[in-house]
Amino acid sequence: MKKKFQVSSTFINKDELNSLKNVIASGWLTSGRITHKFEEEVKKKLSVKNAIAVNSCTNGIFASLHALNLKKNDEVITTPFTFVSTIHNLFNFGLKIKLIDINFNDFSMDPEELKKNITSKTKCVVVTHYGGIPANIKKIIDICKSKKIKVIEDAATAFGAKVKNKYIGAYNDSIAVFSFYANKVITTGEGGVVTTNNNNLAKKIRNLISCGIDKDPWQRTFEKKSWFYNVPFYGFKYNFTDLQACIGLEQLKKIKKIQNYRKKLRKLYDKELEPLFQKKFLIKKNYNNKITLSEYIYTILINKKNTKKKRDNLFLYLKKRGINCTVHYIPANKHIFYKKKFKRFNLKNSDYIFDNIISIPFHNNLKEKDIIFISSKVKEFFLKH
Ligand SMILES: Cc1ncc(COP(=O)(O)O)c(C=O)c1O
Repeated sequence: MKKKFQVSSTFINKDELNSLKNVIASGWLTSGRITHKFEEEVKKKLSVKNAIAVNSCTNGIFASLHALNLKKNDEVITTPFTFVSTIHNLFNFGLKIKLIDINFNDFSMDPEELKKNITSKTKCVVVTHYGGIPANIKKIIDICKSKKIKVIEDAATAFGAKVKNKYIGAYNDSIAVFSFYANKVITTGEGGVVTTNNNNLAKKIRNLISCGIDKDPWQRTFEKKSWFYNVPFYGFKYNFTDLQACIGLEQLKKIKKIQNYRKKLRKLYDKELEPLFQKKFLIKKNYNNKITLSEYIYTILINKKNTKKKRDNLFLYLKKRGINCTVHYIPANKHIFYKKKFKRFNLKNSDYIFDNIISIPFHNNLKEKDIIFISSKVKEFFLKH
């Protein structure tokens, strides 16, 4: 039978299974000691003051919007090239969404474009770090800080990504939210973590994700009157569980290994696909050399100027040969629900990239020979057909 290649795959083994058995045997399955331990490890890893584990990046972003005290009809600036749940959050909150275009270097927000679009109504900026590539975050935060605009980083795919020696998630004057969804570099199935150096915001977010209750259920068990709790705030039920945290702790131990291996695969793809870059059939990415990727996905971008080959045909060509691919992402302005609402925005880079990008298999269960095989099929598509 022909070998099939998935786009993404988990790197999980008996370590996670054993930890899970221990948590199940302990009898405490929801947020508790292991969740706290996981948060402590995330804090240590990223060198950030606060880490709050949540049940998804989506909900972590929603809680952050509330913690920042934004009001209905406040203007938020963001980019379309992200997962739709980030945009849904802004819509659900009742914010006035202004979409600005992305740039070709990192497929994320362009600080100059941001500057041009800020008005006196802008209260918040949501920056997506596309595909585990750090956006130009320092510049964006500086622009926003000078205008008292709040910043949330949709860092769903950027866990472990760095700019120089600073991890995404550790910047001052920002809240970052990561995802541990099943296809991410490290995973807990579903889940995420909110990080910030602002202790007051962290406290608010902790209350918000736990129904506005002022104590967490596990700490309460040690108190004399353990059944009692105050609800000084409104809130949501967005907490993490120890079942997820024990998997996360094992995954954190492996993250270096996971990322180093993927880095090797990325280099090999770059080398194998070089003839297509040379012929300018594919557009070479031009990252800032001070960044470290989280190694989430490997994307290729077709150069429409130099080839008539279409992304959708490449997708089918590879699928027929057992190579499953995907597209990150369908931009917000292309979804039926938002099409009309976002029609007025000029998003030509995002539209071009969406039409011409494809994510090819990239994960730790691929061998070097698999990368060579997949690359050979991509080359065959462009050069022989
Ligand atoms: C850029 C981006 N934002 C947000 C999310 C949502 O993350 P979650 O599934 O943890 O809510 C994802 C998930 O794939 C994502 O890629």
